[in-house]
Amino acid sequence: MAITVKRLTQHIAAEITGVDLREPVSDVDFRDIQDAFDENSILVFRGQDITDEQQIAFSERFGPLELTVSSNPAGAGTVVTILSNLDETGAVIPSQDRRMVFNTGNQMWHTDSSFKDVPATASLLSGRQVPPEGGETEFASMRAGFESLSEDRQQALSGLVCVHDFAYSRGLIDPNLLRDRDKRELPPVRQALIRANPSTGRKNLFVGAHASYIDGMPLKEARILIKELNAHVIQPEFVYRHQWRGHDLVMWDNRCALHRGRPSDPTFARVMHRTTVAGIGRTA
Ligand code: OGA
Ligand code: MN
Repeated sequence: MAITVKRLTQHIAAEITGVDLREPVSDVDFRDIQDAFDENSILVFRGQDITDEQQIAFSERFGPLELTVSSNPAGAGTVVTILSNLDETGAVIPSQDRRMVFNTGNQMWHTDSSFKDVPATASLLSGRQVPPEGGETEFASMRAGFESLSEDRQQALSGLVCVHDFAYSRGLIDPNLLRDRDKRELPPVRQALIRANPSTGRKNLFVGAHASYIDGMPLKEARILIKELNAHVIQPEFVYRHQWRGHDLVMWDNRCALHRGRPSDPTFARVMHRTTVAGIGRTA
């Protein structure tokens, strides 16, 4: 059975049906999925009741996986990041707990691992326990953001290098959230402000919450520019909002889409397992 691809909005996201991710995906189907990914930036697979092993196996088809960093409250050096509001005993973790505060960083529009010198290509998030309402994940197209700028503006931004910094973005939540060793592990990195998809050549902005300043530009001016570009990308027309159902798997293109989690009632369980496909090289 061939897979089908149904677009969910004009600029971003498609739903894929006709594939069972508990089984190895055929090469033909995988190529279609990869093309749909390059084209739509976000792919939604509904009803995928998968184990971590099955999630890892599918994720690895896209390339080697990233390991979690040591500041991650869920633990360092694993390929599966668990985003959960339940502790080991199944009890709800209070919202003031460091683990929950750390994860509120995900509520700022961002792209995963842009604070690493080789930023991630893709993330795959599996909804293992999802709240009946709230807790959505939203995605914004940095490609539509770029393509809707005037040609002059596109030209003016080309070649700029933006510095991304995890200590900067987490510092916006709480200046004491990261320990010194977390900061030493993740020094600021340089990223191209405009990137292109290596397969299609289509260009996009590359910004988000970790974007701290622009190389060679006065700080104030750079902060205003970054704020303006972030606001431009997240206009409603360029956004897909995913309302989770149990066993959804959603994958996104970190190279060209921003995302953010929305809050949910803390008395509802929300347990999500994420795998992250590593990037293939530096951007600047
Ligand atoms: C992530 C993330 C948002 C969410 O897993 O990288 O930002 O809705 N998640 O859980
Ligand atoms: Mn994220």
